[in-house]
Amino acid sequence: MKFGAVILAAGSGSRFGRDKLAVKLRGIPVWKRSYLAFKEHPAVDQMVIVCSENNFAEIKSEVGEDADVIMGGDTRTASTIAGLWKASQVGCDAVLFHDAARPFVSSEVISRVIDGVKNGNAVAAAIPCSDTIKLSSNTRIQSHLRRDQAIAMQTPQGGPVSIFADAFSKIHEPTTDDMELVSKAGYTTHWVPGDPKNFKITTPDDLARAIVMMGYEHRSGIGYDIHRFSTDASRPCWLGGVLFPGEVGLDGHSDADVVLHAAVDALLGAISAGDIGQLFPNTDMAHRDRASSDFLIEAGRLVAEGGWQIENLDIAIQAEKPKIMPRAFEIRTRIAELLNIDLDRVSVKATTNERMGSIGREEGIAAFAICSISR
Ligand code: CTP
Ligand code: MG
Repeated sequence: MKFGAVILAAGSGSRFGRDKLAVKLRGIPVWKRSYLAFKEHPAVDQMVIVCSENNFAEIKSEVGEDADVIMGGDTRTASTIAGLWKASQVGCDAVLFHDAARPFVSSEVISRVIDGVKNGNAVAAAIPCSDTIKLSSNTRIQSHLRRDQAIAMQTPQGGPVSIFADAFSKIHEPTTDDMELVSKAGYTTHWVPGDPKNFKITTPDDLARAIVMMGYEHRSGIGYDIHRFSTDASRPCWLGGVLFPGEVGLDGHSDADVVLHAAVDALLGAISAGDIGQLFPNTDMAHRDRASSDFLIEAGRLVAEGGWQIENLDIAIQAEKPKIMPRAFEIRTRIAELLNIDLDRVSVKATTNERMGSIGREEGIAAFAICSISR
């Protein structure tokens, strides 16, 4: 039996309020977690992702040739039909439909559904209900169900392609799950144990639950840099993205802003992305006299691209001159602005070197930075 997994990712997330499938959990988007769970399952042969206009291009570029990426429809049922059609077109005998909004599906749950489908049945993952379920009409309770007979449906839901094709040819009304459709077409449907962790992200509260379940990942990075004062008395002095008029600047290929360089290295260190010299080689004429604020913006972009948030950035400057503390607030404000983070996440401190060593002899300025990031 050739198994196709159809990841349903064409919804609009109206109850969530924004694109819930693009939200990153520990750096990986919700849809991709769902996709990878099936992609990495040994019994799944073919991947189909059903997308909307909003996420089609991004998902297509992420998965490349590893999956068929197609457009869904206005209802979940329409998206399911599109996925079924694609799976059958590429030769699948059996399909598993999975909500992309259920990123925590385990390989055990997938295996249980697959085992059921191998017997030729339409099978879904489900869990017993812990709450008592009743049928209602507005505020009136209409009928009572025995709790031990109620189950809460999850996905994957699957079965032979032939059953779904037949059901779709007979039933033309939208259904909220695939078992309802199959059973309306006259087939018996079955369930196997799902997992309470395999919940669907529907509202922002569900995302909060997901984050609590996964916990945050934390990292930190350290940066250090030192530059000599220039012998050119007209060279501008940039420190922390702020110009110090009348002060002699530092030597370097770029604007030699030693403070921003240390900050950039701390951020790159936290994401293991090498150092400033690797990213912006000083052999590259494009970086000649370049504003180091550009480097910090790029480092911040790389951090955000990995799904990380900057918790804080703390900088210590060693300089005999110029006096830095009177302008520390300006530096913090500038750095916070370049990284697009709150001011209270950026700290800048300075000290002289008590006239000791090269810094003490006013030969140059050094800076240390440490940052913490999380996702
Ligand atoms: N889905 C789909 N095509 C649709 C509607 C839903 O592929 N036309 C997918 C969703 O992307 C989701 C799954 O079906 O992965 C379950 O649907 P639901 O949780 O209802 O998601 P949304 O429809 O996006 O959310 P809402 O109903 O709040 O708008
Ligand atoms: Mg919906």
